[in-house]
Amino acid sequence: MRRFANQRERRGVRIGFVATMGYLHEGHVSLMRAARQQVGRRGEVVVSIYVNPTQFAPKEDFSRYPRDLKRDLELCRAEGVDLVFCPSDAEMYPGKAEGRYSTYVVEEELSRAMEGAARPAHFRGVTTVVAKLFNIVLPDLAVFGAKDWQQAAIIKRMVADLNFPLKIVVAPIVREPDGVAMSSRNKYLIGDLRPQATVLRRSIQAVRQLVARAQRPVPAPKLKACVRQIVKTAPAARLDYVEFFEPDTLTPVTTVSRGAHMALAVFVGKTRLIDNSRL
Ligand code: PAJ
Repeated sequence: MRRFANQRERRGVRIGFVATMGYLHEGHVSLMRAARQQVGRRGEVVVSIYVNPTQFAPKEDFSRYPRDLKRDLELCRAEGVDLVFCPSDAEMYPGKAEGRYSTYVVEEELSRAMEGAARPAHFRGVTTVVAKLFNIVLPDLAVFGAKDWQQAAIIKRMVADLNFPLKIVVAPIVREPDGVAMSSRNKYLIGDLRPQATVLRRSIQAVRQLVARAQRPVPAPKLKACVRQIVKTAPAARLDYVEFFEPDTLTPVTTVSRGAHMALAVFVGKTRLIDNSRL
């Protein structure tokens, strides 16, 4: 990977980078296409596939996270990806097994709320592995999905704060025909759980309509109550959080008007799903 990156840098070939945890779907593919579009035909697209253990809490789904490297590689080939980087744990966290790994990258502001509150060590793992991947891949730009809005905001902040010499592009959410945001974790939604996953999208649409029709900004608690009601209609669903905030700074808003951003996390059975949208 490093030889490839250094060679491209010497030749002035731009690298567009997409970081993933594999089990690729159309959402990931859209990022590869955006990367290709950004670097042009003379540029090269690198995809990493690595299920990063440091962003999972002990009781989360790290060991059962879906994996299918053969299919992922075929998909990358079909998309014309120039290089797929699939490091091992020993390569990414040298010395960790022997207790000799002790450096992490921590973003201290945007990481506190929402996903950060629900999953305490999660973003420390994400910023650490993404910083490491940037150092290894040496991309000129990297594409992240709006599906993980908070993650993209944190990575933009990290890049600005730590002077990473690359551009971050955020690509829109790709959805299933019924509106459910594509996610590798949708694989866990078996039988009648799958249709219940539409509560996230339905909640967003209901809130969007309320906000669009209101004469003045709507109090956030009123919208949260509305979301709680909708989530209750799905028997296996349990609302983890719903928040309203400024899209760039993630600052919570107490009254919601058009242009504000909404994010929510819902357990459907044991599977935790997230979604978000500009209102
Ligand atoms: P993963 O969940 O595999 O997602 C990889 C990238 O694909 C992220 O930028 C994510 O936002 C984007 N993505 C996922 N589903 C999407 C969808 N339906 N539409 C558009 N984009 C989508 O996010 C991670 O992996 C990890 O945290 C990672 C950044 C790789 C660090 O380990």
